[in-house]
Amino acid sequence: MIKDTEVAAVPIDGDRYHDPHHARVEADHIWRKSWLLAALESDLQKPKSTVTFDIGHDSIIIARASDGTLHAYHNACTHRGTRLLEEGVSSTPLITCPYHAWCFNLDGRLRGAPDPDSFAEGLPADRLRLKPVQLDTWQGFVFVNMDPDAEPLSDFLGRMVERAAPYPIAKMDLIEDQTVSVECNWKAMIDNFSELYHVDHIHPQHKRFVDCPNATDELFENGHTGLHVPGFVTDSRYPVPDRPTDYQEMQLTALGIDAQEFVGRVAEIPAAITRAKREQSGRNGYDYSALSDEQLTTVFQYNLFPNIILSGSPEGLWMMRSRPHPDDPSQSYLDKWTLQLNPDPALGGGSEHKQTMHAASGNSEIADGRVARDCFGHEAILSGAKSMTETIDQDISLLARVQAGARSSGFDHAWLSDQEIRVAHFHDVLNETYRAAGLLEETKLLP
Ligand SMILES: [Fe+2]
Repeated sequence: MIKDTEVAAVPIDGDRYHDPHHARVEADHIWRKSWLLAALESDLQKPKSTVTFDIGHDSIIIARASDGTLHAYHNACTHRGTRLLEEGVSSTPLITCPYHAWCFNLDGRLRGAPDPDSFAEGLPADRLRLKPVQLDTWQGFVFVNMDPDAEPLSDFLGRMVERAAPYPIAKMDLIEDQTVSVECNWKAMIDNFSELYHVDHIHPQHKRFVDCPNATDELFENGHTGLHVPGFVTDSRYPVPDRPTDYQEMQLTALGIDAQEFVGRVAEIPAAITRAKREQSGRNGYDYSALSDEQLTTVFQYNLFPNIILSGSPEGLWMMRSRPHPDDPSQSYLDKWTLQLNPDPALGGGSEHKQTMHAASGNSEIADGRVARDCFGHEAILSGAKSMTETIDQDISLLARVQAGARSSGFDHAWLSDQEIRVAHFHDVLNETYRAAGLLEETKLLP
């Protein structure tokens, strides 16, 4: 365990998962005050491209203007407030309000309105530009912050920046874009991805490719957390098998190694993977020079407060984002972007050497040169019509029950194990907000 900060004895009551008052406090003091991962820079490469990011009752437009500059502003017409653009990725030279045809440049300035002479006060440019939002980028992601007085993004991310720096995340391509609506509060999803305590029970397949008992947790300032799980191994709670598991066989084959060589030598697989990656580095499209041997076989996860989970390996990443439902605290959305490092042709990369521990479901449609966003309800996961990978499907299938139990009058507060210390750290930071809003009394602190 690596700790930058201490964790207090944290009361995690059930109210925060369903009470509308908590949701309003979160809207005002978390969603409207925090840096939020809003878009992929790759969706904003070309001038005139726009991405609309919805969070609660707010919607933010991010646009690249004709001069190449990036801008972010509220998606609300300064005339009567009408939402200007639908959620998603698009391209447009100007933003025209669908109601009265007010027209805005992509830098947010009002370009014109029908019948300007009918406005007795005129159309003052400063007053009527789209309300700006702070914007910054990191690792190929665009972040926004609705608070004009927010600290810089790099200060907010702190040591997460150096931790994630060796991974080539910004070079990865989007290969799947999914959104599922789920029957739980947005925090239940973050809690779920903040501990491995449940893994052995509901993800029995994990024992065949990761060693959760030897994972390392990290706690950072501002509520961010990290996790490093040894990969290419089997779970140390169980005897080492005689033969490579099905997952290990796939991983070895992807690197051009014959899995049969490791019958009776399964414990030697991580070292062989490391050697193979080092040998291939700079030749088959992958450049591992910035990564340590340990990083080559470790699955990392960085949770960015409040609502982002980045889980990956040197070759691929899942960006998972939990967003609140605008009106019902017992519902939320999970966005999942699957990113993959495609071999760099300049380094001799070819399609025969694609390796990732974070494969997509393979069902993505391509529209206008980009994978189409696929939106569905959790029922589609339960019925098997849609998948966000076996592991996440297993989590989603349980979260409605987690939510139902948290709402019960029979649930007082959570009782956490050491394995759930990242859950505690996340709620520690949330509790500062609840306390400031009078939602958490000091007397409720645990002994
Ligand atoms: Fe899980």
